[in-house]
This record gives sequence, C-alpha cells and structure tokens, in this order.
Amino acid sequence: MTHKLINSAKEILSENDLGTYTVPTHGLYPFQWNWDSCLSALGLARFDEPRAWTEIDTLFEHQWDDGMVPHIIFHQEDSGYFPGPDVWQTRREVPTSGITQPPVAGYAVRKLFERAADRELAARRARALLPQVAAWHDWFFRCRDPERTGLVAIIHPWESGRDNSVDWDSAIGRVPTDGVPPFTRRDTEHANPAHRPTQAQYERYIWLVQLFRGLGWDNSKLHDASPFRIVDPGFNAILIRSCTDLAELADILGEAEIASKSREYATSGIAALEQLWSEANGQYICLDRTTGEKIDSPSVGGLLTAFAAIPNSRAAAIANRIARIGETAKFLVPSHDPASPDFDGLRYWRGPVWLIVNYMIANGLARAGETEIVSRIVADSVRLIEQSGFAEYYHPITGEPCGGTRFTWTAAMVIEFLTQNET
Ligand code: GLC
Repeated sequence: MTHKLINSAKEILSENDLGTYTVPTHGLYPFQWNWDSCLSALGLARFDEPRAWTEIDTLFEHQWDDGMVPHIIFHQEDSGYFPGPDVWQTRREVPTSGITQPPVAGYAVRKLFERAADRELAARRARALLPQVAAWHDWFFRCRDPERTGLVAIIHPWESGRDNSVDWDSAIGRVPTDGVPPFTRRDTEHANPAHRPTQAQYERYIWLVQLFRGLGWDNSKLHDASPFRIVDPGFNAILIRSCTDLAELADILGEAEIASKSREYATSGIAALEQLWSEANGQYICLDRTTGEKIDSPSVGGLLTAFAAIPNSRAAAIANRIARIGETAKFLVPSHDPASPDFDGLRYWRGPVWLIVNYMIANGLARAGETEIVSRIVADSVRLIEQSGFAEYYHPITGEPCGGTRFTWTAAMVIEFLTQNET
C-alpha cells in the first residue's frame, strides 16, 4: 500500500511540474504559490534533488528588492484565475501578487540541505539561498513589526495561507467594499462553491488589494494603512521556526552574521508568543493589532505554534487539546474546533483538515516528544489519502475530499509521512 501511495504521489508531482516550478493543481491554481512550492520541494527532493532546489530558487528569483517574496508568481497568462496580474498591477517583468505567504522557506532549505545525498550541490544551493531567505525575514521584522514587538502582522487574509479562517471574521467585516467593481470569480468554476469563501469575503479581499495598489505597493506604508492587521500565532511560529533553522544552516555555512540575527528574531518571537496564550482555550489565539484585542477563535492557527520551539509545557497542552478534539473529529487536525458554532467541515479553512498543517504540527510535536498524538495525526493523514485521494482538504468527520483534486503539496506531504523517519 505504502509503495502504491508513494507512486501515486510522485505521479501527481510530475503532472503538476512545469519544469522550474509546480502549480498547486491544474485549473484552480495555475501559477506558482509561495508556501506550496517550499513544502512541495520536500516531496520532490525524495526522488530528484536538483529539481527540488530549483523549485525554491524559482520562487526567490521573484523576490522583490525590499526583500518581500510574493504569494503568487504569474509565470504565464491564464484567464482561469481571479484576481490575475491586471488586478494586482505590481508592474514587474514577470507579474506577481503584492502580498506574501507563510515563510516556510527557511525550514525547507535547511531540511533539503540536511537530507541531501548530493552534498556539494546542497552546499552550493543553500549558500545561494541563505541571504535571500534572510532578506525576507528582515523584511518581515522591518515592515510587519514596525513597533518591534517581536511578532509580525499579516495585512491580508490571503497572507495567512488560511484564507477564510473564522479568525479573520470580525476584522474582515470591518473592511469596506465601496469602489470594488463587479468581478467574476473563477475559483467557483473549478471547485464546489460550498467549499470556498463567500462572495462577501471576496469583495473585501479585493478592496484590500485595491488599497495597497493605490499605495504603489510601498511596503513602508502598507502595514499602517491596512485596516486588517492581525498577529497570527501560527504564521509567526512558521517564521520563528524558519529563523531558527536558518540560524543553524548559517552556522554550518560559516555565515555568523545571518546566524546571530536569525537567532535573535527567533528568541524574541518565542518570548512574545507567550502573550497570545489563552488559558480559556488551552491554545494560542490571534491578536487584532488594529483594536489591540485578542480574537477568541479556536482555530488551527493556535495549534500550529507547535512548529516553533515553544516551551514544552505549552507543547504538551497543545497535544492534549488536539487529543480532545480527536475525540469527536475522526480525522485530525481540523482547521477549526468542531465544537465551535462557527465550524464548517466543508468550507476551506473553517473546519477541513489540511495535510500541510498536519505535517507541521506533527513535526513540532515530535520534537517536543509528544509521540502519541503525532502517531495519531500521521495515521489519520494516511487514512484520509487512502479513503479520499490527494485532495486539497478534507472534512474532518466524514473524510470527504474537498476543493481541488490531485494536489501537489498534499502529494508531497504523503511522501513525507510515508518515508520520513526523522523529524
Ligand atoms: C489557497 C490556500 C493557500 C494556498 C493556495 C494554493 O489559497 O488557502 O494556503 O497557498 O490555495 O494552494
């Protein structure tokens, strides 16, 4: 069975491989996505190391001068996706979006380096990527943490990677829609509308894009100008983990300055995360930076914090919390607590299980020694694939496959779950 699943996963990776980058899936997402590429590279590396490095190199070829790495690279025209380059208007030779995504590159580069059979290639590629990833991290702390709190804010729900999470409901509800011209969504032509964000949410997503576009995509202005500024613990944990991993890689490669700066970011980030701990929820929760208030929403963002080196007591509490959720959810880890009235098992990030999130939580909890829950998360992930194929996401109770099909990062994570014997 394992062999068969890995072969099917490889087939999907090849099918979505356009030579120097992969698309998440044909049709629904016909370009290169930032964190999709970094996580998919882990799967690619298991059978083609040079190709895996190229996946990340291609992404960083489109890094902005200020250090930002965009969430989408529009390598070629495709009218099947909205909003395309004409809406973003970032005026780049190869068009990109103007916002970013969870910075998992530092983690991925270190992982590729560590596991590489071709040491010479790995040293060369990692050395070239190191300053680029470091510049992205610098950008985050400069442009998304202007008051030096130790944690960064996202300024658009799409940056979180958890597009329509319940976490954003009240903040996105305050975003206006005036001046948004009528548009035709394309996502609902490729996937069931009941599995996707609502029209009202989409109008607000576009309003924010128009606001940033009007400011010329000048990152020295966007953070303060955005009415949507959220400190997401999961997003920050990914950044912190990437800083830690980059520091270790920099040490190995003799880049002392990058190592010490990255370590400082990670240390202050871990300390600041503590403010987002919610005793009532038994997990971390988001902070709305525009109102200064915590967001009382039990989403997977607060569980994803386990990916960073949070204190062991916190990791243990998160493991317990996931185990409790697992008493009702047949498949861990739902993107929103099934006990919450806002839970929707089919709708994107409001309940469904995503294998990339499972992978990062399992990886972090394994480092913290929480082996029992890790085995359950891995077993549930594999059962989902066996039962429902390589979907974009899954209903946590029925296992129903949702969203797009033959998904690249889902396939990559299956390869990871089935072949990995280290964290
Ligand atoms: C959706 C997801 C996002 C992902 C993208 C491509 O927008 O919410 O996290 O990167 O699809 O798969």
